[in-house]
Amino acid sequence: MTVEHDADLAPHTTFRVPARARALARFGSVDTLRQLLGAPELKPLPRLLLGGGSNVLFTRDWPGLVLLNELPGVAVVQEDDDHVWLKAGAGVVWHELVMHTVERGWGGLENLSLIPGKVGAAPMQNIGAYGVELKDSFAALEALKMDDGSVVTFRTDDCRFGYRESFFKREGRDRFVILNVTFRLRKHPELSTGYGAIREVLAERGIAAPTVRDISDAVVHIRRSKLPDPAVLGNAGSFFKNPVVPEAVARRIQAAHPTAPVYPAGEGHAKLAAGWLIEQAGWKGRRDGACGVHDRQALVLVNHGGATGREVFDLSERVLRDVQARFGVELEREVNIL
Ligand code: FAD
Ligand code: EPU
Repeated sequence: MTVEHDADLAPHTTFRVPARARALARFGSVDTLRQLLGAPELKPLPRLLLGGGSNVLFTRDWPGLVLLNELPGVAVVQEDDDHVWLKAGAGVVWHELVMHTVERGWGGLENLSLIPGKVGAAPMQNIGAYGVELKDSFAALEALKMDDGSVVTFRTDDCRFGYRESFFKREGRDRFVILNVTFRLRKHPELSTGYGAIREVLAERGIAAPTVRDISDAVVHIRRSKLPDPAVLGNAGSFFKNPVVPEAVARRIQAAHPTAPVYPAGEGHAKLAAGWLIEQAGWKGRRDGACGVHDRQALVLVNHGGATGREVFDLSERVLRDVQARFGVELEREVNIL
């Protein structure tokens, strides 16, 4: 068990804004995690779990202990004629897990290809992309309760998954360490090709009967064309959620802007495209000092180099206020602000 003091956090996040942690330690086993949680000198410190740091923005130094999750392992734990149950350690890189399933032709995670980060954070906001969410293939997870060290199993209903939401983002925040996640994958995949961009790529490639691999390749292609690579340009993906509003609000916006994208979102509600709202408000591609709004995807705020977390946050506040003033819609941040 090695503890680094006054540790630099920038390399552990994809925004790469400057921040330091009072203490930082890695754990690759539950035993090491327990030792870290129980160490007398570390016990009083506030704790923060980090996987790949791809959905956090530090606006200040972290006054406590950062725990870097490196729990390994991918294994089939159950199988029948139609499904395999695959259990992955929380420290496994998400895209590597997806590739593991794609190589075997197992269906369920292919639309979630190339999402940065690690397996353990994926249930936190029920990651989603191209018409699919983690919850669609989720079977169970195990989490360590930080106050007493017990390991608790969570099934789908316990996780209270929603759009970029879960129990772990709300009531369970800072109380549990997700240790592993088990997915139920299909041996005879039912592919999700409803997303327009996926259909377009398949058509361009002349693929009429796609495989799990074809969908994954199409998603990787689409993502590379739109989203900034965090290795090149600091960012944390969508900074805001797509707002879910009463249908009347969506109708009002569509009456004024007939091309505004609107999606169904349950009875009496509709989902608007935050990227569209931000672009219409004139922010797409705008630079503000060392940070800015991405020029190909207005939902993504970027660090051009040298931005502080506070500067990125202040930019997000201005975008939020402007969208509110123009459209009467309040955006909610998706990124975890620390
Ligand atoms: P971190 O940023 O390290 O942590 C995120 C949160 O989870 C923090 O609050 C942290 O404390 C908590 N946490 C982390 N690990 C654990 C654990 N083991 N137990 C308990 N809590 C934990 N997201 C999508 O949903 N869809 C997308 O399409 C998408 N695209 C993206 C594209 C880019 C370019 C980037 C940079 C990000 C994108 N994201 C997307 C956001 C991000 O990749 C996901 O939220 C991902 O799951 C975060 O994983 P992480 O390991 O980096 O989490
Ligand atoms: N749009 C614009 N201008 C923009 C960006 C988008 O007009 O600058 C419009 C697009 O033309 C389209 C609509 O908004 O009509 C939706 O755009 P897109 O398909 O690019 O997806 P998104 O709604 O902006 C969401 C997720 C992404 C996920 C993609 C693909 C959220 C907050 N974001 O983005 O997730 O990858 O769909 O499914 O739901 C993330 O969470 O970090 C993330 C990247």
